[in-house]
Amino acid sequence: MSSLAEEVARRRTFAIISHPDAGKTTLTEKLLLFGGAIQLAGAVKARGQARRARSDWMKVEQERGISVASSVMTYDYAGRTFNLLDTPGHEDFSEDTYRTLTAVDSAVMVIDAAKGIEEQTRKLFEVCRLRDVPIVTFVNKLDRESRDPFELLDEVEQTLALDVSPASWPIGMGSRFKGCYDLLRDQLILVERGSHDRPAEGIQCSGLDDPKLDELLPADQVRELREQVEMVRGLCPEFDLEAFRHGTMTPVFFGSALNNFGVRELLEGVAEFSPPPRPQPAVERAIDPAEDKVSAFVFKIQANMDPKHRDRIAFVRLSSGHFRRGMKLKHIRSGKVLTMHNPVLFLARDRETAEEAWPGDIIGIPNHGNLRIGDTLTEGEELHVTGIPSFAPELLQRVRPTDPMKMKHLSRAVEQLAEEGAAKAFKTRLGSQWIVGVVGALQFEVLADRIRTEYDVPVTFETAGLHTARWIAADDPAELKRFTDAHQGDLAEDHDGDPVFLARNGWHLKHTTDTWPKLRFLATKEQV
Ligand code: G4P
Repeated sequence: MSSLAEEVARRRTFAIISHPDAGKTTLTEKLLLFGGAIQLAGAVKARGQARRARSDWMKVEQERGISVASSVMTYDYAGRTFNLLDTPGHEDFSEDTYRTLTAVDSAVMVIDAAKGIEEQTRKLFEVCRLRDVPIVTFVNKLDRESRDPFELLDEVEQTLALDVSPASWPIGMGSRFKGCYDLLRDQLILVERGSHDRPAEGIQCSGLDDPKLDELLPADQVRELREQVEMVRGLCPEFDLEAFRHGTMTPVFFGSALNNFGVRELLEGVAEFSPPPRPQPAVERAIDPAEDKVSAFVFKIQANMDPKHRDRIAFVRLSSGHFRRGMKLKHIRSGKVLTMHNPVLFLARDRETAEEAWPGDIIGIPNHGNLRIGDTLTEGEELHVTGIPSFAPELLQRVRPTDPMKMKHLSRAVEQLAEEGAAKAFKTRLGSQWIVGVVGALQFEVLADRIRTEYDVPVTFETAGLHTARWIAADDPAELKRFTDAHQGDLAEDHDGDPVFLARNGWHLKHTTDTWPKLRFLATKEQV
């Protein structure tokens, strides 16, 4: 049996961050191909489409060309186990993405070589920076006419304030793209045209002066390569593992995901440089992955993943210990002990029952609503994992069932969706109406569709004349009571029963916070 320390050391849990269309799906597919997790290129998309066709809700996703549902893919390669967490690419779903990024130890940033750093890439990068998540960069689509590689490196450095250290260097681009020179191993890797499902083999060189280069490449391109590499070695710092792991330096790989080019080098880079599971912060202390006792936290809830079983899956990241099926874990928030009968591992092809799992792994725990985002599970110790915030929504609307008799059904749907993290739900003190809050406008449409198809309640969303919501905290309960007594009409409760102030406009919020200086009006709530 393998030891805990060995299993921790071989785990790499990461996500891919990118702007839509940069090539995340294509790269994911190629990475899985290496892991032998899928046989056919196209399987990720094909599977995605089959799933999308199943429900009306997914139609919204398909029409808009965005990926709402995120998943986890586990595969092995070169003696390592990779857990790749998919993040929704659209800005409307940033909160879900944020939470997913709390469960990774590193990220791969994919950049379209013709476009450079785009808006969504920058936003996701900022989220990674909050936790100093190390970033490996992949500049994609070199088979097309692209921007100058020096200019791209400069942009990464300037816009993200990150030191860049190229791990490979492209030889030409577009129709002149011949391959890359691997700067770390001094080898030449040439594109083999028409080999989409097979990685190109490297040709060992003794350095840039090796005559092999002159044999294999056109004279002008060899000259250009030598000049550029000399320049890049002079301009960019050497790769520094410490700096990378602190999130201040990124190694940059060039390639073309579509042509399966540069993907192996990228994967080997992640295997070699990216950190194994990191210690997990908790209120009481940091949790070391190599601790014997199992601890874990919920970073995402997804309802009704499989329309045939109307289940809810809690996505749980293991922080420490050797997890085994059937073990009993204490759910710290409720104090209840849960038996892990049917944990699920997310393999690329299908869901599979998890017999065991190790720190860094993600398991799915089917449940009926008792597990919530931010919850901690342990073998008994009172630990509360931190760092999984909930954001105040920027858009608020009132939701009503078209059939007034279905109010109860609506309540259940709204509460479940709130627990899943798909939206914020606030029940007004007066009139018990449901106010739903989201981060992006598109989410109202997705929610209406889901409530109708998954809960059989047609609903309408309407403007509520509200600007934003703030959680209210106070050191003095008497002061809080004075406030709530005086502001019944502006108050609601979230699905945990915590009080929330609903502001009608910016002035209303400012005036209220100024008038009640002893209270705190919070835009984020830590899920502890
Ligand atoms: P995303 O998940 O980041 O949104 O991007 P995705 O992989 O879906 O890629 C977006 C488009 O870019 C796709 O083309 C894909 O084929 C193309 N692409 C990805 N990698 C490369 C590359 O290395 N070179 C070139 N030339 N194209 C690449 P599409 O036409 O939108 O979709 P499809 O019809 O090809 O599936």
